[in-house]
Amino acid sequence: MILGSISKNSVIMGLFAIATTGLIVFTQINTADQIEAAKRKALEAALKEVVPANLFDNNLLDSTVDVAASKQLGNKDSRVAYIAKKDGIPTAAIFQTTAPEGYGGSINLLIGINADGDVTGVRVVPPHFETPGLGDKIELAKSDWIKSFDNKNLASPNTAGWKVKKDGGEFDAFTGATITPRAIVDGVHKSLLYFNEQQLALFGTQTSSTFSSQGSQP
Ligand SMILES: Cc1cc2nc3c(=O)[nH]c(=O)nc-3n(C[C@H](O)[C@H](O)[C@H](O)COP(=O)(O)O)c2cc1C
Repeated sequence: MILGSISKNSVIMGLFAIATTGLIVFTQINTADQIEAAKRKALEAALKEVVPANLFDNNLLDSTVDVAASKQLGNKDSRVAYIAKKDGIPTAAIFQTTAPEGYGGSINLLIGINADGDVTGVRVVPPHFETPGLGDKIELAKSDWIKSFDNKNLASPNTAGWKVKKDGGEFDAFTGATITPRAIVDGVHKSLLYFNEQQLALFGTQTSSTFSSQGSQP
């Protein structure tokens, strides 16, 4: 009688353990899916920040090309670039790049460049380690400085202009903080040079746009 009741309890506890484990596994799978979906949504929103909506009608997240590790892009590993397309024709590329010489270390950037070689937008990808109140004006939430790259290309300004004003170039630095903006100006300029050299490989076809024929430099 006692033995029967023990084995009955064991079966109940066993079933309970199986049900609990099943519930945990189910919750984990469900949560992982939700986290993945939230990540994709955040990435898509970030991509849309650097390329205007009128330039594409494709799903940016599903339109990628592999970009090998590149000194010009500041990347030690391969990354994907996102290709914006309108009616199937490539109109812009969005690069994930790294400006290695920030004050607090590397600064990750998203840089959009259209088929004519004009910058369509630049944003800092968090986290960065620039100093609050000094170097963090690179964030759009803190200042509009990052928008000073919009519509710039290799011809405008010319090579000498692609520096902060303190170094004889065209871009503002921040009061008491030149290192951070210098790093980003250099990073964006190098990305334009990379695009100039790699556009055909990236787009896989000639586009209808007239791409700036400004020569690239190493
Ligand atoms: C505690 C501390 C934090 C600083 N943070 C930054 C920073 O985030 N970005 C930056 O450009 N400069 C920062 N600076 C200032 C730089 O050391 C440097 O003086 C400034 O960028 C001017 O550089 P330049 O001499 O090349 O023009 C910081 C200085 C101190 C003392």
